[in-house]
Amino acid sequence: MKLAVRTGGKPYDIILERGILQHAKDCISAVHPFLISDDGVPEKWRKMLQDQFPDSPMHVIPQGEGSKRFEILQEVLADMLEHHLSRKDTVIALGGGVVGDLSGFASACYMRGIQYINIPTTMLSMVDSSIGGKTAIDFHGVKNCVGAFWQPSLVLIDPEVLSTLSPRLLHEGLAESVKMGLTHDRVLFELFESDDYMMHMDEIIERSLRVKRGVVERDERESGERKLLNFGHTFGHAYESYHELNRYLHGECVAMGMMTVIRDEALKQRLKAVLERLQLPLCCEYDTEAIVRLVKNDKKADHGTVTIVQTDEPGHGYLEEWDEDQIRQALMKADPALS
Ligand SMILES: NC(=O)c1ccc[n+]([C@@H]2O[C@H](COP(=O)([O-])OP(=O)(O)OC[C@H]3O[C@@H](n4cnc5c(N)ncnc54)[C@H](O)[C@@H]3O)[C@@H](O)[C@H]2O)c1
Ligand SMILES: [Zn+2]
Repeated sequence: MKLAVRTGGKPYDIILERGILQHAKDCISAVHPFLISDDGVPEKWRKMLQDQFPDSPMHVIPQGEGSKRFEILQEVLADMLEHHLSRKDTVIALGGGVVGDLSGFASACYMRGIQYINIPTTMLSMVDSSIGGKTAIDFHGVKNCVGAFWQPSLVLIDPEVLSTLSPRLLHEGLAESVKMGLTHDRVLFELFESDDYMMHMDEIIERSLRVKRGVVERDERESGERKLLNFGHTFGHAYESYHELNRYLHGECVAMGMMTVIRDEALKQRLKAVLERLQLPLCCEYDTEAIVRLVKNDKKADHGTVTIVQTDEPGHGYLEEWDEDQIRQALMKADPALS
């Protein structure tokens, strides 16, 4: 399946096909691309790409969020210079969101911007981070605060690579698809309600890509509609910050964040059933006042109120402004028995 993405810059394709990593070279015109991956991406997938470009260097960064920092960016840029990459050369990112964000930003900076191709290998990066053109590193303890909008020239998605991903990482990525189903695509949400949702993985990825593509095409710089994709994220980010030491993954916090805001009782029960099926947490322990403060400090806070994404039926998300009392009430209503 091929999907064209048309944003402000040059249009590009997303190709979703089982086994495409094995013949990625057929889709890539660059002869000596510069390859970037991380040491948590199984050797099997890295070798599969390297074998197709035997003369290309592959820069392997340490796995984990800790690699989204200046020192690693500097090492990647230095390696690109040492290999004499010119403005006409291409970078290929093979990995999850960390590799994608760092490689995209390195490509945006190098020689004022060179082409990059993204080959996402985690569920989250397939359905979410690989399209939309946001690239970044973390700085001074603030996530994604130094970056650029830089679109890839091609995205290749091979669901086969998910076979090596842990169930926990698979499920946390799917939380983003559940979110997109609730805000934009009823059928996508209903796929998760069927017992054999695992059989529909390619359709889940395709439908999620269509949602994300539609939103970024209409709102490349996140001024309006893209905010709907923040469903579950305002409280989700607060839970992420509150629980240090990475106790919960991003998608797990989004799952809990969706449960906190959703008001329609019948829909909440449907969401609960889906999240349980995906072994995602519904609620966690927290100090209500600490979460209220974190939610208000979230970048979406404006003039004392916070923009919250709400939904009352699958496929239909909309924005609301919540004041401090509404934030507190939602937190107090969260059922501790669910934690
Ligand atoms: N740019 C955006 O729009 C956007 C959107 C959402 C998230 N993000 C960013 O994405 C990052 C998170 O991405 P992620 O969840 O993909 O995490 P990740 O890139 O850290 O990958 C998770 C782990 O899985 C390993 N891995 C990758 N592919 C694998 C495979 N096929 N089999 C087994 N293991 C594999 C990685 O080595 C890593 O250890 C965060 O930094 C976040 O800020 C960016
Ligand atoms: Zn997210």
